[in-house]
Amino acid sequence: MDQLKKEIQAKLTSAKTLEELNNLKVEYLGKKGIITELNSKIKEIPNEEKKTYGMKVNELRTLFNDLYNQSKENIELEEVNRRLESEAIDVTLPATKIEVGAPHSLEKLIEELEELLMSMGYDVVEGPEVEKDLYNFELLNLPKGHPARDAQDTFYIQDDEILLRSQTSPVQVRTMLENTDKTPIRIICPGKTYRRDEDDATHSHQFTQMEGLLVDENVSLANLKATFDVIAKKLFGETRQTRFRPSFYPFTEPSVELDISCFNCEGKGCPICKNTGWITVGGAGMVHPKVLDNCGYDPEKFTGFAFGFGIERLAMLKYGVKDIRTFYTPNDLRVLEQFKRKDSE
Ligand code: DAH
Repeated sequence: MDQLKKEIQAKLTSAKTLEELNNLKVEYLGKKGIITELNSKIKEIPNEEKKTYGMKVNELRTLFNDLYNQSKENIELEEVNRRLESEAIDVTLPATKIEVGAPHSLEKLIEELEELLMSMGYDVVEGPEVEKDLYNFELLNLPKGHPARDAQDTFYIQDDEILLRSQTSPVQVRTMLENTDKTPIRIICPGKTYRRDEDDATHSHQFTQMEGLLVDENVSLANLKATFDVIAKKLFGETRQTRFRPSFYPFTEPSVELDISCFNCEGKGCPICKNTGWITVGGAGMVHPKVLDNCGYDPEKFTGFAFGFGIERLAMLKYGVKDIRTFYTPNDLRVLEQFKRKDSE
């Protein structure tokens, strides 16, 4: 038994794996295990020795179990340590660089305009892109057959009453009609617009506009000029000059083109301003009395101004983009990166 004791000690302390340990358990304590056999031999032991014999076998079993548990614990601990080591994180390694996205340039410009105009008391409103001819044209003083409709070659849907809006101006009409109290209005509406244009470097069948409308008592062209001035300086720099050029829109009277002094040559003349020193960035005017009347506003009491910007045109000027299609194929990271850099300048 002393020999067995040593054997057990040696074997259990040198076991390296749980499998080895389990094999030892079978070898000593299994059905036909060495200790089990010793235990069953107790019957053959003379009575007076039975007690000592039994105690010794028990001792062996206890020793085995103690050593077994200790070894098991050690082996499991080693396993955990090994795993921790293999999963260890080296905090001194350089981190993976996270690429930060950039807002789309058109969206960025819209947000810039929204922020500015909201600070001037304008609400941002939306209107449907699938629009009625009534709102897109008729109530804007463009009855069917009006020649000015030709300038906006329109996508009609199903019949000649439903269309894809060719301008954001119908939102003026909607806002005035919806405002049943006929209180003053100050809104801007950015959004998508559609025309049956062939896509090329400066035309797109889908583009973006931002409409503005202010209706109140005693509004004058001077208010429009002042508002335009603030917008032009915010977008293109403090040294910008603005000017009105007479124009025609059926929904405004008088109508004007909105020009800014060329930011590239400061008005001296360059290819961007086609040597005129001025760049047109939108259309505007005093809301036509007929439009006010169509929308339930008394033209004797109310006046108002409206303006419309082509967002792509503004963005092309502001970011030096030569081809409008660049905005709609934005998956080229080199393009997006440039806008990102401009953003953080
Ligand atoms: N809707 C016009 C267009 O698409 C732009 C415009 C001109 C809007 C004058 C206005 C305005 O609100 O007053 O060509």
